[in-house]
Amino acid sequence: MKNIDLRSDTVTLPTPAMRKAMYDAELGDDVMGEDPTVNGLEALAAEKVGKEAALFVPSGTMGNLVSILTHCRRGDEVIVGDQAHIFIFEVGAASVLGGLQVHTVPNEPNGMLDPQSVIDAIRGENIHFPPTGLVCLENTHNKCGGWALTLEQMDSVCLPLKERGIPVHLDGARVFNAAVALEVEVKELARNVDSVMFCLSKGLCAPVGSMVAGREEFIRRARKYRKMVGGGMRQAGVLAAAGIVALTEMVDQLAEDHSNARALAEGLMGIEGIRLEQRHGVQTNMTFLTVVADWITPPELLTALGGEGVKVGYYGKGVFRAVTHHGIEEEDIHLALEAFRRVMKEGVA
Ligand SMILES: Cc1ncc(COP(=O)(O)O)c(C=O)c1O
Repeated sequence: MKNIDLRSDTVTLPTPAMRKAMYDAELGDDVMGEDPTVNGLEALAAEKVGKEAALFVPSGTMGNLVSILTHCRRGDEVIVGDQAHIFIFEVGAASVLGGLQVHTVPNEPNGMLDPQSVIDAIRGENIHFPPTGLVCLENTHNKCGGWALTLEQMDSVCLPLKERGIPVHLDGARVFNAAVALEVEVKELARNVDSVMFCLSKGLCAPVGSMVAGREEFIRRARKYRKMVGGGMRQAGVLAAAGIVALTEMVDQLAEDHSNARALAEGLMGIEGIRLEQRHGVQTNMTFLTVVADWITPPELLTALGGEGVKVGYYGKGVFRAVTHHGIEEEDIHLALEAFRRVMKEGVA
């Protein structure tokens, strides 16, 4: 039985080209700035996202944290969406480690933040208020169905903030998925943000690593925060080598993940007892569905699918997430749909 793991695109394995590049990588001590492969990856990443410089970090969570610490001073407030990964899934790091207060504004169903709500959340001059230090956007938006924000949407939030001198950080863990779906360059999507974090270790298949990019001076300070939180790695070129392959060879194939996700969603829509959650449709590699059947509970569905070799993620309240990625072929989507149909039809004995 084939294992069809749709829990996340983080389960992707390094490609043969990555393993070879890792084996062959030229190495040095990166904390001393002497790992040529890391330096090469950082230059490449900066170029891809249209920023002056970039920094290799072990994870997206650390990349967001380091960016936030670099932008803000203790006591500042950070404006984020109430469905943001930074708010929900990063263990409160900005508050715990940065001494920052998080101020949420509601995410719209597509992950967008209403520009006026962001402006209204900015603190004015008042002895009682913490200063607003940063606004964070997320693109694609994980909890909002992997939807991609367009250039115009990004700019409608970023430009008024630029006028007010408030920096914007983009949690672009999957910004390459956004760019592929929208048929634009990442550098265009990131043109009006001050910093961007993106992950090499998700749909781009690298085993480890994320990048933070921004102005040279920002990255110089971020490098110090990376050291502070324990992210200074030594012969990290062995990992960065896979990152270079991720950026040079793996971006275009994301389109296949997106079409597989749409095929999965279309198939799921035809199954009684399943409701597709994404009001805006499936645009990138994520499908969110709710089980509305009274003959099978969410834990029963998870177990029964698992018995068929199909793994999906459970988000609570009946909501499941299925993520397509490299290693999931069109044929696997048919197999997964057959498993869903059998399980939903038969229920649980
Ligand atoms: C939108 C978003 N930001 C940040 C992260 C954190 O990345 P990591 O798991 O590498 O810490 C994730 C991980 O899934 C994510 O989906």
